[in-house]
Amino acid sequence: MAVERTISIIKPDAVAKNVIGEIYSRFEKAGLRIVAARMIQLSREQAEGFYAVHKERPFFNDLVSFMISGPVMVQVLEGEDAVAKNRELMGATNPKDAAPGTIRADFADSIDENAVHGSDGADTAAQEIAFFFKPEELCQRTR
Ligand code: PPS
Repeated sequence: MAVERTISIIKPDAVAKNVIGEIYSRFEKAGLRIVAARMIQLSREQAEGFYAVHKERPFFNDLVSFMISGPVMVQVLEGEDAVAKNRELMGATNPKDAAPGTIRADFADSIDENAVHGSDGADTAAQEIAFFFKPEELCQRTR
């Protein structure tokens, strides 16, 4: 399996619940390494840009308002099969459908406030990493 990088965002609801460390622990236990991280208060323009692919969907304005309602924690995760591994750890978009033990099952309250975002493929991951980080901000984890 290939070593990949992916974007993870801990959304404002989970930051407010003070569970950043618990979520990081799940990444680390799954063998994913954090190679860049930053807490950010997104502007409306940034959130609209990040979610531009969803701009025609009925929940777009609510999603943007939620994502700017408080700081988010953004990290680049690296490891074998990192995109799929992170999606597996996250669980289904709607926490009601999320498998027990996943991040959304344990920390999300609703589909509107669902604790985490993860890139959904290798191409999206590359675009999302470039959205938040300069190449020189990604660290090499050699030990
Ligand atoms: S996916 O696979 O997570 O991208 O699922 P998708 O259904 O495409 O979700 C798009 C993002 O919008 C967020 N969101 C909602 N989706 C569906 N219905 C409602 N009401 C809704 N509200 C917000 C959903 O969490 C996805 O956000 P991200 O950050 O990509 O997980």
